Amino acid sequence: VPTTDTTVTVRVPAKVNLFLGCGLLRGDGFHDLTTVFHAVSLFDEVTVREDDELSVEVSGEGEGDVPLDETNLAVRAARLLGERLGIRPEVRISLHKGIPVAGGMAGGSADAAGALVALDALWGAGLTREALHAVAAELGSDVPFALHGGTALGLGRGDQLTSVLARGVYHWVFALAEGGLSTPAVYAELDAWRADADPRPVSSPDAVLGALRGGNAKALGAALDNDLQVAATRLRPALRRTLEAGRELGALGSVVSGSGPTCAFLVGSAADALTLAASLSAAGVCRAVRTAHGPVHGARIVATEI
Ligand code: C5P
Repeated sequence: VPTTDTTVTVRVPAKVNLFLGCGLLRGDGFHDLTTVFHAVSLFDEVTVREDDELSVEVSGEGEGDVPLDETNLAVRAARLLGERLGIRPEVRISLHKGIPVAGGMAGGSADAAGALVALDALWGAGLTREALHAVAAELGSDVPFALHGGTALGLGRGDQLTSVLARGVYHWVFALAEGGLSTPAVYAELDAWRADADPRPVSSPDAVLGALRGGNAKALGAALDNDLQVAATRLRPALRRTLEAGRELGALGSVVSGSGPTCAFLVGSAADALTLAASLSAAGVCRAVRTAHGPVHGARIVATEI
């Protein structure tokens, strides 16, 4: 029986990888990454309240595609945090989605990060950022960044984060695709492709980091780079057309977001973003478009109601 009616709501951003260099498959089933994460203004909201048992409900963008069982990352976050704190996770988790589901923008990871921050507050645990980060990394490679936000270099599985100096605000258009892509399938496709193609030399994030330091959107557009793009476009050839359309319509740069299938286009201003979004819609090369800016903060409490 709930002892309080308190609700805590946390807002968590989506991410796009400005650079993703994928190394070799490791013994633990993960790949060593060098990646530059960038948090953008598409958000999920995670609300928690005490209840008789653990449950999750979903509304918003792609609500029918989010699992409601134990595989839901917010549910897993509640179980893991409860276990660590010795608290039975008898809570109702409400997810309001603004981040495309299975789109390569870390929406599931955002929900996990949001649940950690919300439950830490609901349960009055007062965990440090470091302690939350450690639990987050156990839940998935992208969960620590959803806590962190901003623009950060990710090493290891992507979970070892360092903030990077990024000047300015960057304006984005995201082209959402019909249906998602499975992250493990995209990594497996990259391994298969590399096994019989000559893999290109290992690339470096230096051009992206330099552009960010200088606040140079044009240079950043030219430097956007994602090793997973070749795999995502092999699994979903239609993405080539989407990426090409964005470039033809004047984007400063284009890249598949994470493991896809969302495509990200960098433009010079908020007005340019609206123009490109309308043109991409009219070109019929995607299911839907969203505009956003970055960097934005990581998971943060936006409301507490007692
Ligand atoms: O960490 P996360 O649960 O997001 O990873 C999902 C899957 O993506 C992993 O099981 C693995 O197949 C792949 N992955 C990888 N290398 C990484 C991150 C993810 O191979 N650095």
